[in-house]
Amino acid sequence: MTRHVLVTGGAGFIGSNLVDALLDEGREVTVLDDLSTGSRHNLVGALNRGARLINGSIGDRDAIAKAMRPVPDTVFHLAAQIDVRRAVADPEHDAKVNLLGTIAVLEGARAAGVRRIVLASTGGAIYGDAETIPTPETAEPRPLSPYAASKAAAESYCMLYSRLYGLECFTLRLANVYGPRQDPRGEAGVIALFCANETGVATVFGDGRQTRDFVYVGDVVDAFVRAGNDIRNGMCNISTGRETSVLALAAAVGLEPDFRPERPGEIRRSCLDPSLARRLLGWTARTSLQEGLALTSTAAATRPARPA
Ligand SMILES: NC(=O)c1ccc[n+]([C@@H]2O[C@H](COP(=O)([O-])OP(=O)(O)OC[C@H]3O[C@@H](n4cnc5c(N)ncnc54)[C@H](O)[C@@H]3O)[C@@H](O)[C@H]2O)c1
Repeated sequence: MTRHVLVTGGAGFIGSNLVDALLDEGREVTVLDDLSTGSRHNLVGALNRGARLINGSIGDRDAIAKAMRPVPDTVFHLAAQIDVRRAVADPEHDAKVNLLGTIAVLEGARAAGVRRIVLASTGGAIYGDAETIPTPETAEPRPLSPYAASKAAAESYCMLYSRLYGLECFTLRLANVYGPRQDPRGEAGVIALFCANETGVATVFGDGRQTRDFVYVGDVVDAFVRAGNDIRNGMCNISTGRETSVLALAAAVGLEPDFRPERPGEIRRSCLDPSLARRLLGWTARTSLQEGLALTSTAAATRPARPA
C-alpha cells in the first residue's frame, strides 16, 4: 500500500472533511477539484499540512493524469454535480459531470494502475419513493431525477471496471449528510439552511412531515476511510436508519415553520437501513442528531466569512 491517495471533489463539503481525516491517518493527499461548488477556503488547513490541490476538472484527461502522479493507492471519487434542480433543468450537464466524469476517472485509474476506488453515491436519491423503510440495498433503484439516474449509472460503471479490469471498487450510498462546511447557498441540505437561518422562521414546503435520514459528516468520513482501507468490492448504505421530519428538525433548531406549497417530485420518506455497513465495514453512525446539530451550529457561528 502506498501512502498517496486522490480525492476528487476534495474542496467540497464532504471531500474536504475527508481530506482532513486522511491527513490524520498519515496519508499523502492530492485533491482534484474545479472549485465549481467547492472552495479553496475549505482546504486552508489541509494545504498547510501538505495536501496538494490540482484545480482542474474530472472531464479533463490531462488534469486526471497529473492528479494520478504519483500513482494513488486509492481514489476517493466525490466530485459531482449535486444540484437536483439543476440536473432536471440541464440533464446533459449532469450526465457530463456525474457519468462521463466518472468514466474519465475510471479510465485514468486503469491507465495509472490504481488499486482501489471508493465512490460517493446517493441512497437518498437512488431508491426514490421506496416501499420498504428503512430501505435496504436490495431495494430496486427507482431514480426520480437525472441526478439519481447519473449516480446509478456511475455505480454501474465502477462495478464494470471492477469486473473487466480488477479495479477494486466500493460504493457508499449516502443518506442526507450534514455538518460543518456544508454550503447554505445553492441547493444545500436543509440542516445547513436551518443552521444558517437568523430570522427564527424556517421555510417548510408542504406539511413538513416529509422525512429524511440525517447522517453527520464526521461519521460519513469514517465510512470513507474504512472503505478505503478495505480490500473487498461492495456497496452499502451510509445512514442512521432513523427518520426525522422537517418539522421536527425545525423545532430542534428552534425555528418556527413558515409553510409554503409542496414542491413537485419531492420524495416523501427517506430512511436507509445501515445494517450492511456494520457487517461489511464495522461502521455505525455514532453522532446523535442533537450532537451533530450542536457541532454544525458552533462551526457556522465561529467560521470566518467565506468569499462569495
Ligand atoms: N451532501 C449530501 O447529502 C450527499 C448525499 C448523497 C451523496 N452525496 C455525494 O457526495 C459527494 C460530495 O458531495 P458534497 O455534498 O460534498 O457536495 P459539494 O458540491 O460540496 O462537493 C462536490 C465537489 O466536486 C467539485 N466538482 C464538481 N464538478 C467537478 C468537476 N467537473 N471536476 C472536478 N471537481 C468538480 C466541486 O467543486 C465540489 O468541491 C457527491 O458525489 C455527492 O453526489 C452527497
